[in-house]
Amino acid sequence: MNSLQERVAELADILLASKKTVVLTGAGISTESGIPDFRSPGGLWSKIDPMYAFSAETFIHRPEVFYKAGLPHLTSITTARPNRAHEVLAGLEKAGLISCVITQNVDGLHQRAGSTRVLEVHGHLRSATCMSCGSKITWDHLLDKVFAGQVPPRCGDCRGIYKPDCVFFGDSMTADFTEATREATTSELLLVVGSSLEVSPVNYLPMLAGKLAIVNLGPTMADRRALLVINNRAGQTMDLLWNELHSRGKV
Ligand code: APR
Repeated sequence: MNSLQERVAELADILLASKKTVVLTGAGISTESGIPDFRSPGGLWSKIDPMYAFSAETFIHRPEVFYKAGLPHLTSITTARPNRAHEVLAGLEKAGLISCVITQNVDGLHQRAGSTRVLEVHGHLRSATCMSCGSKITWDHLLDKVFAGQVPPRCGDCRGIYKPDCVFFGDSMTADFTEATREATTSELLLVVGSSLEVSPVNYLPMLAGKLAIVNLGPTMADRRALLVINNRAGQTMDLLWNELHSRGKV
């Protein structure tokens, strides 16, 4: 097994040879920002049943379940800060070495690190939408209503219930997912950073790209198909990649 440095050098070779590269990230890229992932030991799904607190079915019939059991986990996300892996991906976009980041995360950390082409296939936590009239409020305004005791929070106009603009289990996918499918299909290389690739339909995206590389602590269902797999922390690996590209005068 060659060393981490040798594998990072191989990743740099693959990236530099690719005419179009997209990156697919998951919760594993944000654990070093203090946000637990879902399926690692101690991850969020070991503490709360996702189908109970984060399913569209439950939300429609008993929205208070989400606002009492699920919301606290999401509010902790909004105070996190980008880590080195997010920063490197933003730098790779600026250097023209990746064309976009497709993320399953709703934490907004890619944008806060400076990435501008971010496809949020599972939505985001910037706003919420009234399920009756479609009007929108900001996340902060939604929290103000909840913390003032209005559970579930209701629309000031029609008294409908507000639903956060992130994808719940059973929801239809976002328009960003449709664009992500186009991006993956037309990419020469798809780099996965920090995802177990357990959840469909996003886990089909790596199959659409010409070549696949994976940076992930744990194994994934796509490993055997990947040109290169680096089982290491995203922050350290992406930092080493940046230094390797810098030593070659590419960033
Ligand atoms: N560096 C690299 N990989 C990491 C790190 C890290 N610092 N920390 C964790 N990982 C890896 C884990 O080994 C795991 O394989 O990241 C992966 C995270 O997998 P999941 O917890 O399943 O998260 P994700 O793949 O994003 O889940 C996809 O599932 O529940 C839904 O909507 C939720 O968007 C989420 C989707």
